[in-house]
Amino acid sequence: MFLKTKKRQHPFLHMTLFCIVLIASFIMHAKATANDQLKRGELVYQRFCSLCHGAKLEGQENWRIRKPDGKLPAPPHDETGHTWHHADELLFGITKKGMVPPYAPPDYKSDMPAWEGTLNDNDIRAVIAYIKSRWPEETRKIQADINNEALQRRR
Ligand code: HEC
Repeated sequence: MFLKTKKRQHPFLHMTLFCIVLIASFIMHAKATANDQLKRGELVYQRFCSLCHGAKLEGQENWRIRKPDGKLPAPPHDETGHTWHHADELLFGITKKGMVPPYAPPDYKSDMPAWEGTLNDNDIRAVIAYIKSRWPEETRKIQADINNEALQRRR
């Protein structure tokens, strides 16, 4: 009787351990992937974006005031700017295509380059993930709501 229960317990115990190990390795893998993405995003940012948007995401001076050529300076990407007012999809689109319709009126003059051709979609996603990772918790929460609203509107 005792042996019998012991026998029946074993496969169950193994399955439980197996599941725990599987779930743990899945979580560790997801975390490692997210870290890799942020590292890549930081590299992309420092190489391609920091020149205008600032090494610390601080943007250019007087970024709200148009320059004599009529164009706007580069805004900050940190929480003092308005990048976090936009859903991920829009940030992706602006980064990929530049300030062209539907992101800006036709003939809009801007110094913001279109990055498609230089950066692939994964690089663009990585750099946006990096920018987002620099926002304070509260800012990230608000932008997550903006994201959800944008996704719901698409449905
Ligand atoms: C040559 C300067 C320059 C570089 C380099 C540059 N940007 Fe910009 N960016 C701008 C300017 C200027 C604007 C403001 C656009 C406007 O309204 O004319 C802007 C706007 C943006 C916006 C919209 C922000 C908002 O708050 O609405 C995003 C997103 C953005 N840039 C992402 C990037 C990313 C990501 C990179 C690097 C891959 C990058 N930019 C590199 C000049 C630059």
